[in-house]
Amino acid sequence: MELIIDILSQRAAAAIKAATHLDAPPILKPSAEDRFGDYQINGVMALAKQLKKNPRQLAQRIVQALEIDDICQSPEVAGPGFINLRLRQDWVESRAAELCADDRIGVPRVAEPQTVVIDYAGPNLAKEMHVGHLRPCIIGDCLARLTEFLGHRVIRQDHVGDWGTQFGMLISFLRRTVPQALDGSSPLHLADLEEFYRQAKQLFDSDADFADQARQAVVDLQAHDPDTLKAWRLFRGESLRHAAAIYSRLGLLMQPQDVRGESAYNDDLPRVVAELDYLGLISESDGAACVFLEGFTAKDGSALPVIVRKSDGGFLYATTDLAALRYRIGQLKADRVIYVADARQKLHFQQVFALARRAGFVKPSTVLEHVAFGSMLGKDARPFKTREGGTVKLADLLDEAQQRALKPVSEKNPELSPDLQRRIASVVGLGAVKYADLSQNPVSDYVFDWDKLLSLDGNTAPYLQYAYVRVQSIFRKGQINLDELHSAPAQLCLDHQAELALAKHLLRLPEPIYQAQATYKPNILCNYLYELAGRFTSFYGDCPVLNAAQPTRTSRLLLCDLTARTLELGLGLLGIDTISQM
Ligand code: ARG
Repeated sequence: MELIIDILSQRAAAAIKAATHLDAPPILKPSAEDRFGDYQINGVMALAKQLKKNPRQLAQRIVQALEIDDICQSPEVAGPGFINLRLRQDWVESRAAELCADDRIGVPRVAEPQTVVIDYAGPNLAKEMHVGHLRPCIIGDCLARLTEFLGHRVIRQDHVGDWGTQFGMLISFLRRTVPQALDGSSPLHLADLEEFYRQAKQLFDSDADFADQARQAVVDLQAHDPDTLKAWRLFRGESLRHAAAIYSRLGLLMQPQDVRGESAYNDDLPRVVAELDYLGLISESDGAACVFLEGFTAKDGSALPVIVRKSDGGFLYATTDLAALRYRIGQLKADRVIYVADARQKLHFQQVFALARRAGFVKPSTVLEHVAFGSMLGKDARPFKTREGGTVKLADLLDEAQQRALKPVSEKNPELSPDLQRRIASVVGLGAVKYADLSQNPVSDYVFDWDKLLSLDGNTAPYLQYAYVRVQSIFRKGQINLDELHSAPAQLCLDHQAELALAKHLLRLPEPIYQAQATYKPNILCNYLYELAGRFTSFYGDCPVLNAAQPTRTSRLLLCDLTARTLELGLGLLGIDTISQM
């Protein structure tokens, strides 16, 4: 199905051409307020200026040339030259009826699918996952879902931090504390990675012998000593299992085969530097290999290098990212690479992208994007911490979400089995945590407030999930057989203002999905769903469904079903589940 906004744009373009003989693309926007209609043609003022014409008169001429009666009521010229369009009720009725039979609810696939690599999650494997990993996981997964739904080929990449000096310390500690795991006589099982790291660090700081062993382990690791590699692999595997358990609790699409961490590029690093050198891009500075790029200067105005090899021969985060980028372009054939990473890494990605382009590692047409996100803050507007000021483990946060959500569920539904109550609480709690994040513009910091995000009122997941539940309870109460409901060709009558308003909003679904995907802003989809739930609530309050006379009853049931399906699809694209009772 074609997007409404595209159909209207084409008609508007034709009218502008007829009225001005110009091929000026119209600027078509959904209207901000109902009194301005449903859509608005903007840009007539600019056109009038260009043509030295009176804007209102030009708008009138365009309206006269506009062939749009089949879709809209008579267009209105407003203000200095806006053209307001209001959809006809019968057109909305027939379009909504088409949506009832469309399993994509009117959202077309893109005409030209791309291969899109999305780099997200990417925890550092030396430690346990903490709240800082929530945003790259949630936002990245949502972008992957949106992109895939629109028909692109998505390749997820988990660029985990699995190499570096910290691993020397962890390997040595492993040797000291669980030797039986290293000789294979018992499997490695670390209950708490964070604690393991803390103890290793403590020993490292207090015991000179241990610190020496740890440093030697780093040297051995870099020299690919088989014994040391074996220990590293063991620890890495254990840490990845911890991460996978969190991913699964978070419901991420990221799979073990998507893990390609920093260590995967070790062998490529000397080649990357050699190639940069061959291209004449490397300058030595105090023994380090640096690339100076135009446009990158430090605060004091001096040139800011990208260091690709340290004086001790070690490579850096940027070198690894260059190698990874080459792999993504060369092997994965990416048309677009999206990095979901902390806003504090902005300069890093700017440098990597600029250097990759300068070195010809990417085609000019390849899109490289850093989707930067801000911090998650506590209610005191400072970084989110435990009461004692420590880092909050992600596992603990998810436990707490589930626990907090369980209370209202068990109070409201004492008749449900404890198992079902827990399952509902887990969907609601996790949904609330995810939605609190996704409903914010990613670049902004946001305040993580348990009471707000779990509230049934306001722009929250529970509010949206509850709208879905309401529809399900109507169906249960009326013993509605959905197959039967859909067996006859859908016919809608939207005579009540609340029905029409709800249906018009349902018709708009493709707009926020396309926009959220193109701008990397899931909050656009959240706002749409929030408004949808609001319109549904008005409809639910004003329009009886089960007690309505036919054909209104069936029409309203169809509208309910379309609302539920839209909520389910929209929440699903955010990575949030729905349940039929709560
Ligand atoms: N491991 C990094 C961190 O914890 C995130 C990786 C982001 N991706 C990348 N290709 N650099 O901050």
